[in-house]
Amino acid sequence: MKEKRTVRTGIVGSGFAARFHYHALSKIHGTNVDVIGVFSIERETAVPYAQERGIRCFDRMEDLLDEVDVVHVCVPPISHEQVAVAALARDKFVICEKPLTGYFGDGTPEFHGDHVSMDAARDAALASVRRILDAESKSKGRLLYAENWIYMPSIQKEREILEKTGGQILWIHGEESHSGSHAAYYAFWKNGGGGVLIGKGCHPLTAALYLKRVEGRTRDGRPIRPKSVTARTHAMTRMPTFRDAGFIRCDYHDIDDFSMMHVEMDDGTVASVFASDIVIGGIHNWLEVYANNHRAHCNINPNTAMQTYNPVEANFKDIYVVEKIETKQGWACTSPDEDWFTGYPQEMEAFYRAIAYGDPVESDSALGADAVSTIYSAYVSAQRGGAVVDVEQL
Ligand SMILES: NC(=O)c1ccc[n+]([C@@H]2O[C@H](COP(=O)([O-])OP(=O)(O)OC[C@H]3O[C@@H](n4cnc5c(N)ncnc54)[C@H](O)[C@@H]3O)[C@@H](O)[C@H]2O)c1
Repeated sequence: MKEKRTVRTGIVGSGFAARFHYHALSKIHGTNVDVIGVFSIERETAVPYAQERGIRCFDRMEDLLDEVDVVHVCVPPISHEQVAVAALARDKFVICEKPLTGYFGDGTPEFHGDHVSMDAARDAALASVRRILDAESKSKGRLLYAENWIYMPSIQKEREILEKTGGQILWIHGEESHSGSHAAYYAFWKNGGGGVLIGKGCHPLTAALYLKRVEGRTRDGRPIRPKSVTARTHAMTRMPTFRDAGFIRCDYHDIDDFSMMHVEMDDGTVASVFASDIVIGGIHNWLEVYANNHRAHCNINPNTAMQTYNPVEANFKDIYVVEKIETKQGWACTSPDEDWFTGYPQEMEAFYRAIAYGDPVESDSALGADAVSTIYSAYVSAQRGGAVVDVEQL
C-alpha cells in the first residue's frame, strides 16, 4: 500500500456547495486532507462556517491560495473564472463547481436576460472558457471539473458497460428538474449565466457528453463530441397566466425555468436533455442510455433503493428523506445515502487521488468546456426558435 500523501485544501465560498464539499472531504480515504481555511465575501456566513469546522477564516483569497495545494470553487458561476484563474496562476489545483463559466451580462443595471443577444453571450462565454483553459495550460496545477453526475455510481457503471462491451450509444435521454433552486443569486442571469438550461441542464448534458467520450476513447482513442444543438427555453413562472399554488419557486427576475436541448454528436447519434424548475415531488434526476447492444436506466432520484411509509408527518420530523420533497407523509422514495447516489464522495476521492498521485480524472476542464459551448449554442438556438446551431469544439 502506497504511503498516504496529505493535500492542503482551501475553500472559497461559504454557502450550500461549500457545505457539501466539506462533508464529502470527510469521506476521503486515499489521501489525508488538511483543510486550511475558507474565504468568502460574506463574512457573516464565512466566520460560523470556519468556527463550526475548526478551520481559519481568511480576509483575502490570495492569502488562502498561498497556503494550499487545491482550492474548491464554491461561489456563484459569475466568479468561477476569477477564482480559478487566480489559483491556476499560483500553480494550484482547482476543483471548480458547475457550470465551468458563462456569460454574465454587461454589468449595467439595465441588463436583462430576456433582451440578451445570445450570439454575443456565446462569444463572451467561450472567451471566458478560453481564458480558463489558457491559465490551466500555463499552470503546474489542473482544473478538476466538479460535475458530480460523472461520479454517480450508475453513470460509472454505464462507463464500465461501454468499456467492456464496446457498445455504441444511439440515444441518451436525461433530465434534472425540481421545484426551484434554494440560492437567492440564481434568480438573476447576471449571477448564474442563464437559467435552468445552464443551471440544471448542465448536469445530464455533461453526463451524456461524458458517456459519448468514453465510447469514442474505448473504440479508437478519439472522444465523440457535440456537433450541433437545437433547443427551446421557457419562463413559465414569469408568465402572467402562471398560477402560484405555493409549491414552485416563482421569484425569478430574468431567467428560463424550462428547457429542452437536442444534441447531435459528431458521429450522428443524439442526446435529448430536459431541465426545469417546475417539477414537484422531489428532485427528478435520471439518464437513460439506448445502445446498439444494451439499454440502461440510471434512476438517480427517485429510485427504489429504499421506500418508506410514514402515516403522520410529525413522525419523521428529524428524518432526512430526499432532496426537495414537499412532504414526508405517506410513501416516499427515501434515499438511504443521498450523497453516495449523487456521487459527491466518489468525485472528491477521485480528485484528491489526481492531486496527490497524478491519477487520471474523468471530469476535466475539456468536458466542462464542451458543456459550456453546447449550452450557449443551445441558448442561441432557443432565441432562433429552435433552429439547428453548430457547437464550437474548443
Ligand atoms: N453540483 C451540485 O450538485 C451543486 C449544487 C448546488 C450548487 N452548485 C454550484 O455551487 C456553486 C455555489 O452555489 P451555492 O448553492 O453554494 O450558492 P450559495 O449562494 O449558497 O453560496 C455561494 C457562496 O459564495 C460566496 N461568494 C460569492 N461570490 C464570491 C467571491 N467572488 N469570492 C468569494 N466568495 C464568494 C457567497 O458569499 C456564498 O457564501 C455554483 O456554481 C453552483 O452552480 C452545485
